[in-house]
Amino acid sequence: MFQICCKISLLCCLLFSPLVSADSIASYPEGWESWPVVKESVNPPADTVVPPDTSLFIQEAVKAYSWINNGEGSPLTIRVNPKKLEQYKTHGPYTDGPTAIAVSEVQGIIWVTEHFGGLPIYGSYNRKGQDISSMHPTLEPEFCQRCHETYKDICINGTCTEPLLDAYK
Ligand code: HEC
Repeated sequence: MFQICCKISLLCCLLFSPLVSADSIASYPEGWESWPVVKESVNPPADTVVPPDTSLFIQEAVKAYSWINNGEGSPLTIRVNPKKLEQYKTHGPYTDGPTAIAVSEVQGIIWVTEHFGGLPIYGSYNRKGQDISSMHPTLEPEFCQRCHETYKDICINGTCTEPLLDAYK
């Protein structure tokens, strides 16, 4: 219901999102397994010490997902819809449809960013395509949006330019 509402009208989405915010808004991108890999990244383990000069954005991302794989971290593969590779390079403007995913290789969590009407929408699924956004507060679309929106200089049009691994170089 929420998903349909959001795809029809942004106003509808904004009005009803507080009521049913745990559902993914982005849809499951069928066939993502064959999307090209653009970046290899990580969910660092919970005991990771981030270098002191690390941006707040990266620090928050590390903290938010320290629960992944029972705190032991996981490799993260970032794939982009082959139709949107050029758009991804310039961080948009994006056409409608699924845009990019980040896949936690250990737990099989798939973070999805889709665009609709030029705006990013978010969702999270397991490898069977089941919506898992209610599995953890940090997987709810509202939570995704909060981080990706707050750091507008880094996450342009919903995709992020500052690779996590750069913090450890
Ligand atoms: C606290 C901050 C934060 C939150 C919350 C967050 N992200 Fe991100 N996201 C990041 C960072 C940092 C990267 C870049 C990682 C890298 O390149 O190493 C990223 C990258 C991504 C990517 C890869 C494509 C890209 O932008 O380069 C997708 C897809 C994505 N996020 C979706 C989501 C979804 C879906 C959620 C919610 C379930 C979410 N994100 C929640 C910080 C966040």
